[in-house]
Amino acid sequence: MQTATLSGKVALVTGGSRGIGAAIVKRLASVGAAVAFTYASAVQKAEELVKEVEAAGGKALALRADSSDPDSVKGAVSDTVKAFGGINILVNNAGLLEVKPYDQFTIEEFDHLMAVNVRAIFAAVQAAAPQMGEGDRILTIGSINGDISAFPGMSLYSMAKAAVAGLTRGLARDLAPLGITVNNLQPGPIDTDMNPADGSMAPMLKGLISLGRYGKATEVAGLVSYLASPEAAYITGASINIDGGFMI
Ligand SMILES: NC(=O)c1ccc[n+]([C@@H]2O[C@H](COP(=O)([O-])OP(=O)(O)OC[C@H]3O[C@@H](n4cnc5c(N)ncnc54)[C@H](OP(=O)(O)O)[C@@H]3O)[C@@H](O)[C@H]2O)c1
Repeated sequence: MQTATLSGKVALVTGGSRGIGAAIVKRLASVGAAVAFTYASAVQKAEELVKEVEAAGGKALALRADSSDPDSVKGAVSDTVKAFGGINILVNNAGLLEVKPYDQFTIEEFDHLMAVNVRAIFAAVQAAAPQMGEGDRILTIGSINGDISAFPGMSLYSMAKAAVAGLTRGLARDLAPLGITVNNLQPGPIDTDMNPADGSMAPMLKGLISLGRYGKATEVAGLVSYLASPEAAYITGASINIDGGFMI
């Protein structure tokens, strides 16, 4: 049986309807947090997830909020506070992956990828941090691609995830006086719709992973749960790899 280490805490997970985000929603709810989550368009998946969490005895709230719009992101933070009475844990998970040669990206695609993968995090933190205090947590799902670009086509995604690591360090400094920690998780290949373990990139990627397999969304959720817990109080500004030993 899991200890309810996050009892009485309120979490907001962006991009929680599927993949890593959905696993984080379930995990945080299973250890006692009330969990709001955003999604872009998958209404049905979002509603199913709320029902699943509630059937297991937890509390969840689905909020439609497109991360490319900073006002929507800020609105999701205030809806979370209104529904659950505060916010203690912000998990910036929503993200998008585009792989193609640098000269095939349009400037509009550049702006959109940065808006979803980076600017939305800044907007969420600006809205959430003033409502947070001692012992609260800000976590972002970056990527091992913030440190390495293992194959061609990763220019914008690698740039965005490297920006997330820098933003994490700066925010950790700014928010330390308030007792809020800020950390960045850097997964390697994780089996989701974004990067299926049976997808076209999988054979190449598996060859680069020391453990020889894709990670599971639940494995990332386990690390989020630890970093959100009181036990992780002395970790801040860190980018922590969870990648099965990717290209080490
Ligand atoms: N899978 C991997 O191998 C891997 C590795 C390293 C890092 N990551 C990072 O982990 C995070 C989650 O990835 P994933 O693999 O779980 O992706 P996924 O399976 O594609 O799921 C993406 C989630 O984000 C939501 N989302 C996408 N665009 C959004 C937007 N504009 N506004 C609000 N929500 C949006 C989606 O909502 P809808 O359901 O409504 O579309 C969905 O819930 C991302 O930041 C990704 O970069 C993934």
